[in-house]
Amino acid sequence: MNKRWKRAQDYEKRHRVRNELSDEKFMAVLNYPNFDWDFFWSSVNLKMNKNTTLLDVGSAGKPVFINIKEGNKYSIDPMVEVRLKIRPILVDLYKDNNIKGLSIPLEEFNEDVKFDVIFCLNMLDHVSNYKPIIKKMDMILKEEGYLNLRIDLHTNSITKWIKNFFQPEPPHPHHFMKKDILKLFSKYKLVRYKVVTQDMKKRVKDLGIKRKKEKLSYRIKQYIVNVEIKRFIGVLLMTIINFFTKYKYKYTATFIFQK
Ligand SMILES: C[S@@+](CC[C@H](N)C(=O)[O-])C[C@H]1O[C@@H](n2cnc3c(N)ncnc32)[C@H](O)[C@@H]1O
Repeated sequence: MNKRWKRAQDYEKRHRVRNELSDEKFMAVLNYPNFDWDFFWSSVNLKMNKNTTLLDVGSAGKPVFINIKEGNKYSIDPMVEVRLKIRPILVDLYKDNNIKGLSIPLEEFNEDVKFDVIFCLNMLDHVSNYKPIIKKMDMILKEEGYLNLRIDLHTNSITKWIKNFFQPEPPHPHHFMKKDILKLFSKYKLVRYKVVTQDMKKRVKDLGIKRKKEKLSYRIKQYIVNVEIKRFIGVLLMTIINFFTKYKYKYTATFIFQK
């Protein structure tokens, strides 16, 4: 695994611990209508039963089907262990709802199982190298199986290039536009596509979730330890662009593909 991804994962772990919600808020999140889940099932011609195999890859330990009883379910993410440690109620939910949690990167998954549905939500831009991930997902997805991909996208190639080249964002080694995703999954059929920026924002607003920023001292230390002049330039450039565009070059979309 490369150094860039290790940093992304370190950031992810710190984010997870820093932004873990109070018990009360966490329960509110669990009980809030699950947008990804509802959107998927309203878009496909598939009925869930006890044999349906589902995977949430990059689940951060809280898979999209955490409240669902039926099906044979896997939650794969190097963060599963960290998450279950800080949130013991998840351990019970995994047990009660027959979810197998694996604290590994997808590349290391080698069980003999194929999935009817793979959820890959806000994950593909976080990985070390996305091509082997796509190949692996393809290997473990059944023929005619579904891939539900939610991802942040750029509206233009300039901000995408700046972010890919200067790497200003620790958790995101990769940046995409819609056309890149369509090309990467061109051998699949696109069943449904939706821009979900507003749904995501509404969810955060309704639940009153506030994100805490990484400590400034940690961020400065990272620049110094890693001699990150390039990243520093990227942060400066993006600060200016963000100021003038108010982040309008970024949006979130969900693609439902069928193999
Ligand atoms: C932003 S979180 C997404 C959390 C969740 N899916 C959601 O929508 O809220 C991205 C996750 O991708 C995970 N990840 C990164 N590389 C991975 C890999 N190779 N295999 C599986 N998960 C990975 C990270 O550990 C992190 O928890």
